Parts: sequence; C-alpha cells; structure tokens
Amino acid sequence: MKPNLRSAFDTIRALIAVPALLLLFGSGIAEGNEATYVGERACKTCHSQENAHFSETLHAKMFRQNPKNENEARVCEACHGPGSLHAKNSLDKSLIIGFTKQWGTPIDKQNGQCLACHSGGNRLHWPGSIHQGNQLGCADCHNPMEKISATSLQARQSIAETCYQCHQQQRSEFMKRSHMPVPEGKMSCVDCHNPHGSPTKPLLKADSVNEVCYTCHAERRGPFIWEHAPVRENCLNCHAPHGSNHDKLLTVARPFLCQQCHMAAAGHPSQMYNASQTAASNQALGTAASMRVMGRSCQNCHSQIHGSNHPAGSRWQR
Ligand code: HEC
Ligand code: HEC
Ligand code: HEC
Ligand code: HEC
Ligand code: HEC
Ligand code: HEC
Ligand code: HEC
Ligand code: HEC
Ligand code: HEC
Ligand code: HEC
Repeated sequence: MKPNLRSAFDTIRALIAVPALLLLFGSGIAEGNEATYVGERACKTCHSQENAHFSETLHAKMFRQNPKNENEARVCEACHGPGSLHAKNSLDKSLIIGFTKQWGTPIDKQNGQCLACHSGGNRLHWPGSIHQGNQLGCADCHNPMEKISATSLQARQSIAETCYQCHQQQRSEFMKRSHMPVPEGKMSCVDCHNPHGSPTKPLLKADSVNEVCYTCHAERRGPFIWEHAPVRENCLNCHAPHGSNHDKLLTVARPFLCQQCHMAAAGHPSQMYNASQTAASNQALGTAASMRVMGRSCQNCHSQIHGSNHPAGSRWQR
C-alpha cells in the first residue's frame, strides 16, 4: 500500500473505532483506563506536607526551574508515574508507584522509575550486583522526598548510617581502636565501595584491593627496588580495612604478624640476633621478652616494611 493510501485507511479506521469503543466502555474512554499524567498541582492538594519537604531537594529545583525534558517537567509523576487514577481512588495501591515497604509496588518497577534517568555511569553494574540480586530498592538508601543528608539524598544523615541499617557488623568494626576516619566523617564507605555495583568483589571501587588503597596511600604503590611480596599481593595480608584493636589496623599483633610467614626453625628471624640466646628471650612471649621486639617489634630494624628504594634495603632496614 502506498503511504498516502495507508494513512487515509488509518484515519477511516480510527473514525470508526473511537465511537465503537465509546459505546463499549461508556465514559471510560474519555478518562482512560490507563492512568494519565495530571501534573503536580493535583498531587499537592492532598500531599502538601510531603511537597513541603520535597521542595528542599535538588530534584525539585531541577525539575521545576530547569527541566531538561518532558519527563523531568512531570515532577512528582516523573518518579511516581501517571497519577490520574490514584487521584480518584487513592486507596487502591496498584494505582500509583510507591517506594515505601507498606505500599508494596514491586522492587523492579520502583527501580525502573529511577533508572529511567540514572542508568549507566556509576550504576553501570547495578544489574546483577549483589544489592540488586538481594532485591534492594533505590529507596533503601535514598529518600528523595526530604533533604536528610548533606549530599546524595541518603535515607539517613550520613552514608555510613545509611549502610549500617543492614551492615551492623561494619559499624562495630569501625568502632575499634584503630580505624580510618569514617566515624569522624572524613571519609565514607563509598571511598572504597560502589554500592551500585562493581565487577570487583566485594563491590570495590577499583580493580583490586590494592588499587583502592593506592587512591589515598599513593606512597605505597611503589615500584620499589626491594618489594615485600605480601604487600604487593594484597594489603589485607596485614591490614583490616574496617578496623582493628591492634595498632595501625593490623590483623594480628606484632611480632606474630610477621611470624605467621617467617618462622624459620633456626636462626633469625624466629631467633633474633641476641647476645643472651635463650628460647624465651627471643620472642615477645613469656616473662623475658626480647627488648628488640618491643615497640615496633621486628620493625625496630626492618622499618621499611612496605618496600625500600635504598640500594642496601633488601631487608628493609633502610
Ligand atoms: C485526593 C487526594 C489525593 C491526590 C490528589 C493524590 N493523592 Fe497520593 N495519596 C492520597 C492518599 C489518601 C494516600 C494514601 C495514604 C496512606 O495510605 O497512607 C496516597 C498515597 C500516595 C502514595 C503512596 C504513599 C506510600 O505510603 O508509599 C504516593 C506515592 C502518592 N500518593 C503520590 C501521589 C502523587 C504523585 C499524586 C499526584 C499525581 C497524588 N498522590 C495525588 C491522596 C491523594
Ligand atoms: C525523584 C523521585 C521522586 C519524586 C520527584 C517525588 N517522589 Fe515521592 N517518593 C519517592 C521515594 C523514593 C519515596 C519513598 C521515600 C521513603 O523511603 O520514605 C517517596 C515517597 C512518597 C510518599 C509517601 C510518604 C513519604 O514521604 O514517604 C508520598 C505521599 C509521595 N512520595 C508523594 C510525592 C509528591 C506529592 C511528589 C511531588 C511533589 C513526589 N512524591 C515527588 C520518590 C520521589
Ligand atoms: C526524570 C529524571 C529523573 C528521575 C525519574 C529520577 N532522577 Fe534523580 N536526578 C535527576 C537529575 C536531573 C538530578 C540532578 C543531578 C544530575 O544531573 O545528576 C538527579 C539527582 C539525583 C541524586 C543526587 C542528588 C544530590 O543532592 O546530590 C540522587 C541521589 C538521585 N537523583 C536519586 C534518584 C532516585 C533514587 C530516583 C528514583 C526514586 C531518581 N533519582 C529519579 C533526574 C531524575
Ligand atoms: C546500598 C545503598 C544504595 C543503593 C541501593 C542505591 N544507592 Fe545510589 N547512592 C548511594 C550512595 C552511598 C551514594 C553517594 C555516592 C557518592 O557520594 O559517591 C549514592 C549516589 C547516587 C547518585 C548521585 C551520584 C551518582 O552516582 O551519580 C544517584 C543518581 C544514585 N545514587 C542513584 C541510585 C539509583 C537510581 C539507585 C537504584 C537503582 C540507587 N542509587 C541505589 C547508595 C545507594
Ligand atoms: C537494605 C539493606 C542494605 C543496605 C542499606 C546496604 N546493604 Fe550492602 N548488602 C545488603 C545485602 C542483603 C548484601 C548481601 C549480603 C550477603 O549476601 O551476605 C549486601 C552486601 C554488601 C557488600 C558485600 C558484597 C559482596 O560481594 O560480598 C558490600 C561491600 C556492601 N553490601 C556495602 C554496602 C554499602 C557501602 C552500603 C551503604 C552505601 C550498603 N551496603 C547498604 C544489604 C544492604
Ligand atoms: C578503606 C576502604 C574501605 C572502607 C572505607 C570501607 N570498606 Fe568495606 N571493605 C573494604 C575491603 C577492602 C573489603 C574486602 C575485605 C575482605 O576481602 O576481607 C571490604 C568488605 C566489606 C564487606 C563484605 C564483608 C566483609 O566485611 O568482608 C561489607 C559488607 C563492607 N565492606 C561494608 C562496608 C561499609 C558499610 C562501610 C562504611 C561504613 C565500608 N565497608 C567501608 C574496604 C573498605
Ligand atoms: C579515601 C582515602 C583512603 C583510602 C581509599 C584508604 N585510606 Fe587508609 N587512611 C586514610 C586516612 C585519611 C587515614 C588516617 C590518616 C591519619 O590519621 O593521619 C588512613 C589511615 C590508614 C592506616 C593507619 C591507621 C592508624 O591506626 O594509624 C592504615 C594502616 C591504612 N589507612 C590502610 C589502608 C588500606 C589497607 C586501604 C585499602 C583497603 C586504605 N587505607 C584505603 C585514607 C584512606
Ligand atoms: C607484611 C605486612 C603488611 C602489608 C602486606 C601491608 N602493610 Fe601497611 N603496615 C604494616 C605494618 C606492620 C605497619 C605499622 C608500621 C609502623 O609501625 O611503622 C603498617 C602501617 C601502614 C600505614 C600507616 C602509616 C605508617 O606508615 O605508619 C599505612 C597507611 C599502610 N600501612 C598502608 C598499607 C597499604 C596501602 C598496603 C598495601 C599496598 C599495606 N599497608 C600493606 C604492615 C603491612
Ligand atoms: C603474608 C606473609 C608475610 C607476612 C605477614 C610478612 N612477610 Fe616478610 N616476606 C614474605 C615473603 C613471601 C617474602 C619474600 C621471601 C623470598 O623472597 O624468599 C618476605 C620477605 C621478607 C624479608 C626479606 C627476606 C629475604 O629473604 O629476602 C624480610 C626481612 C621480611 N619479609 C620481614 C617481614 C616482617 C618484619 C614482617 C612483619 C612486619 C613480615 N615480613 C611479614 C611474606 C610475609
Ligand atoms: C635487632 C634488629 C632486628 C630485629 C628486631 C629483627 N630483625 Fe630480622 N634481621 C635483622 C638483620 C640485621 C638481618 C640480616 C640482614 C642482612 O643479612 O642483610 C635480618 C634478617 C631478617 C630476615 C631475612 C633472613 C634471611 O635468611 O635472609 C627475615 C625474614 C627477618 N629478618 C625477619 C624478622 C622478623 C619476622 C622479625 C621479628 C620477629 C625480625 N626480623 C626482627 C635484624 C633484626
């Protein structure tokens, strides 16, 4: 069929179909069985309280003052979907997309609303991520209805508090004696993790544990003339990322830390160069601990434990 004939045919069909449908469904067609967009004024008449809080957020400012497209200009309905039917029957929970637990909208549908504008970028690996697989909703961590946190619309006052809703163990780890300044608010979980998904387990922001650490501790990256194998392999051979009751986030106290791997049967290191050679005096054990393993222990001598650039630093004494 030629284009002009087809469009003529379509017009005729439409002219016949509309009155036929009107007969079938009465006034239903005029209002639509499908919900339509009604605009935020309608919502505000019943939800003035929610609107007042929402108005403090970046979404409200962007969508109202400078919408980039038709969807943004819908404001409330950009997230909650078309609301004409809900405005008439606000108790039927299937008629509007809700993001609270009690409203019961399926998680995938909720997340689909947000991802319509926020897919890709940091959320490139959201599909298939452990959080997505565990049926988390965007609203488990974000509350766009209120400015609760300083940035990124967190559901709690800080990122860490948002995470601790479900990750209680990490809360207690960060309360240990040695920890990076997460509780002090100088850094947060997302300095190391991407909660939206990552190809590196567990949700790490870089390609490996060490790459994550190097972002701030660049001096540990090397390369060194004398590399200490376990350092290059994985910082977590010796450090706990979230907290430890030992010095400097160490997984084990010194000298045991070193002795996990350096336990020669005889001679140094398990017996140190010591004038008064007795078994007990060579360890930090017993009543007569060697003075040489006090303080920084093995590092009293092997101070450059992360690697050395000194030509004679093969044992990291310099
Ligand atoms: C005629 C009043 C009225 C209008 C207009 C109205 N709502 Fe509602 N809305 C309600 C009532 C009542 C509830 C049920 C509250 C409840 O059960 O706690 C509700 C519930 C909701 C919920 C679910 C809340 C939850 O617990 O998760 C959302 C989302 C919502 N409305 C958004 C909107 C949006 C968006 C608009 C505009 C398109 C709108 N409403 C227009 C009265 C209205
Ligand atoms: C950027 C997306 C987004 C926009 C825009 C938005 N909402 Fe919401 N709304 C949400 C999310 C997410 C929740 C769930 C918050 C929570 O966990 O309590 C929610 C919750 C609600 C609730 C349930 C009560 C509450 O506060 O938890 C109502 C009612 C509601 N929204 C109405 C509106 C109205 C009215 C507008 C426009 C003035 C609007 N929303 C704009 C995402 C949005
Ligand atoms: C219609 C498009 C659209 C929808 C739908 C949408 N957003 Fe946004 N969102 C934006 C825009 C635009 C910004 C402003 C910053 C930007 O350009 O990224 C933004 C910003 C944000 C920010 C950063 C806010 C800040 O203060 O730094 C978060 C977090 C966010 N959105 C989460 C969500 C969540 C969660 C949902 C679903 C409940 C959602 N958005 C739905 C368009 C959208
Ligand atoms: C497990 C918690 C968690 C979940 C689930 C989550 N987010 Fe986030 N989101 C965060 C945190 C934390 C930040 C702050 C990141 C930062 O400051 O680098 C953030 C930041 C954002 C931002 C602003 C910065 C950016 O990355 O562009 C947007 C937009 C956003 N999230 C959208 C979403 C959407 C859409 C979903 C659902 C598909 C979602 N988030 C699910 C925790 C979460
Ligand atoms: C609503 C609950 C919830 C919130 C909030 C939440 N998580 Fe999770 N998270 C989970 C669940 C469930 C798992 C899967 C746990 C499991 O399988 O043991 C998980 C797993 C993880 C993992 C381990 C991933 C792996 O591969 O083993 C990391 C890392 C993580 N979350 C970080 C975060 C961070 C960072 C935040 C805050 C930005 C956060 N989570 C907020 C529920 C949550
Ligand atoms: C300095 C970087 C760093 C920070 C900050 C950080 N993590 Fe982690 N996190 C890691 C590393 C590295 C692992 C992998 C641990 C392993 O493999 O033993 C991890 C593992 C996890 C796991 C998986 C279970 C486990 O403990 O091994 C969860 C859950 C988690 N982190 C949550 C959090 C939360 C929540 C925060 C913020 C309160 C946070 N992390 C802050 C680096 C960090
Ligand atoms: C976002 C930046 C950042 C990242 C990423 C980071 N750190 Fe840190 N780290 C810090 C800051 C800040 C301190 C505190 C420095 C201070 O107090 O002088 C610190 C302190 C430490 C300390 C000394 C703790 C003490 O008790 O004195 C160790 C050990 C450490 N980090 C190891 C790591 C390891 C291992 C990783 C990777 C899993 C890592 N860091 C990733 C910022 C970071
Ligand atoms: C073989 C064990 C071991 C490994 C592996 C290791 N460290 Fe350490 N690290 C230590 C010890 C021991 C200390 C305490 C140093 C001291 O007291 O002089 C320390 C201290 C630190 C400190 C505190 C600052 C300082 O010098 O006192 C930072 C930061 C640090 N390590 C980062 C890292 C990073 C990043 C990695 C991975 C690239 C890493 N470490 C791997 C043993 C290790
Ligand atoms: C996870 C295991 C591990 C831990 C923990 C560890 N090392 Fe090592 N260390 C190694 C390995 C592997 C080598 C390389 C051995 C080789 O090249 O033959 C090495 C090499 C050394 C060397 C040079 C020895 C040589 O033969 O060249 C010294 C000195 C040393 N470590 C001291 C320490 C001290 C001090 C600590 C504690 C702060 C420590 N190491 C913790 C595994 C470890
Ligand atoms: C009093 C200083 C001192 C202390 C304390 C010390 N070392 Fe040493 N260590 C040395 C010297 C000196 C060498 C030999 C260096 C050389 O030959 O270049 C050495 C060599 C080593 C070697 C290489 C051995 C070899 O066969 O080449 C290892 C491994 C080692 N030390 C581990 C340790 C461990 C683990 C501790 C703590 C339990 C420790 N050291 C404490 C001074 C010390």
